[in-house]
This record gives sequence, structure tokens and C-alpha cells, in this order.
Amino acid sequence: MRRKLVLGNWKMNGSRVDAHSWAAAAAAVAAATANADVGVIPPVVFLDVVRAASDSSPLWLGAQNVAAYDNGAYTGEVSARMLAESGVRCVLVGHSERRQVFGESDVVVAEKYVRALAAGLTPVLCLGETLEERERGATDAVVLRQLQAVIDAAGAASLSDAVLAYEPVWAIGTGRTASPAQAQEVHALIRSAIAKHDAMLSSLVRILYGGSVKGSNAAELFAQSDVDGGLIGGASLVPADFDAICRAANQDG
Ligand code: PGA
Repeated sequence: MRRKLVLGNWKMNGSRVDAHSWAAAAAAVAAATANADVGVIPPVVFLDVVRAASDSSPLWLGAQNVAAYDNGAYTGEVSARMLAESGVRCVLVGHSERRQVFGESDVVVAEKYVRALAAGLTPVLCLGETLEERERGATDAVVLRQLQAVIDAAGAASLSDAVLAYEPVWAIGTGRTASPAQAQEVHALIRSAIAKHDAMLSSLVRILYGGSVKGSNAAELFAQSDVDGGLIGGASLVPADFDAICRAANQDG
């Protein structure tokens, strides 16, 4: 049985005051949900605020981005080792906003994944198709291509130290959630692709769903057999909503 995981991705939102109150609420629900893991992924300048507000809570601390390089003349970048030293446990790689707004290719995403692993961080590898790709029937090919780029760079066995997140781009921040059946179909596809390398590993790897998850739809998404929790954007900025989502994961855990 895979333990559910709920991660709140704050994106580029909030102030230090907000960060403190969101983190305190998340730390409280993390402590109250014994059957599920809970984490928050703040802007990197708020890591210290979240750490202070969640002291002695099991809350996971995440980062939204990581450099594809170890160290050196890369102005504006933050390395995986720096994140690890700052208490970060997991880092998003391949989020669709990084792929689309910042033009990160599969190769760059795979480099970031490798750096994260090397620093002892858990990469949260995001996979997902755009609306145009879904409409022309390319969902499976896109998701499998994104997964394969990481397997080529780091090997399938590396997935035992990673978390996957299926995030259809058309569902992110749009209020348009994938139906539980649509999510399950792609999650099962991802799991069966991993099973071709290692059946045991495929049964253990956690695959989160992301894209307009709310308190009102979390339970039915998390009830799908291959959905192991959620990557939550907008609803993670509203403590009551994030709380409800974490409790839905805990029920199912
Ligand atoms: P959303 O974002 O929940 O606001 O759709 C999800 C994400 O981008 O991870």
C-alpha cells in the first residue's frame, strides 16, 4: 500500500506573513494526518519562515526549482546542494510552468532531476500534456516521452527515490479538473511503463495528481487505485481547502 502524499505548491505567491500562517496551518494538518505525508513548496526566500513555523512537525519542505548545474557562474540559480543544506527535502522538476514559460526542455528537466538526486533531495517529476496535445490524441506519447528522458539520464531504478506527478496542463489553475477516470488512465499508463523496467518499483512509486484539486474533488481523485495524492496549487493558498485535501488523503491512506 502506498502512503498518500499531498504537496502544496505556493508558486510565486504570498508575503512572509502569509507564509508564516499558511505554514503553521499546514504543519498542524501534517501532524494530524498520521496516514498521509504533507508538504509545502514555498518560494525559496520563504524557506526559513516555513521552517520556523513548522518546527518539530512532520511537514515536508520543498522547493519549486533547482539549478541544472552544481555550482559556479550561474547568476540567479540555486543549487540542489544549497537547497539540501537549507532543510529542503523535495524539489519540483519539470513543472509545466517551467517547461512552458521558461522553455525547459526534457533534457534540462532530466539534468535537474539528476542534480536533485545527487544532493539527496527527492525530485518530484511533473509530467503532463497540453490541451492541444490531448485533443490530437498525443497524451500518452507526451507523458511517456517526458518520463523516458529522465529514465535515459538517470536509469529507471532512480525512480525509487523520486515522486511523480501527473499534471495535465489544461487542468492547472483553470478550475477544470481531469475526471477521476481521466487521471486514473494516465496514472496507470505511467505505472505500467515503469513496470516494464521493474514491477516491484512500479508498485511502490508514488504518482500524484495535480490540476485544480480542491477540497470538493480530492476524495474521488484519491480513491483511484493509481492516484497516490496530490500536487496542489491554488487551493494550497487557502488553509481550510488545503486542510480538507490533506484530510481526504488521510482517509484514503
Ligand atoms: P492548481 O495548480 O492546483 O492551481 O491547478 C497545480 C500545480 O500547478 O501544481
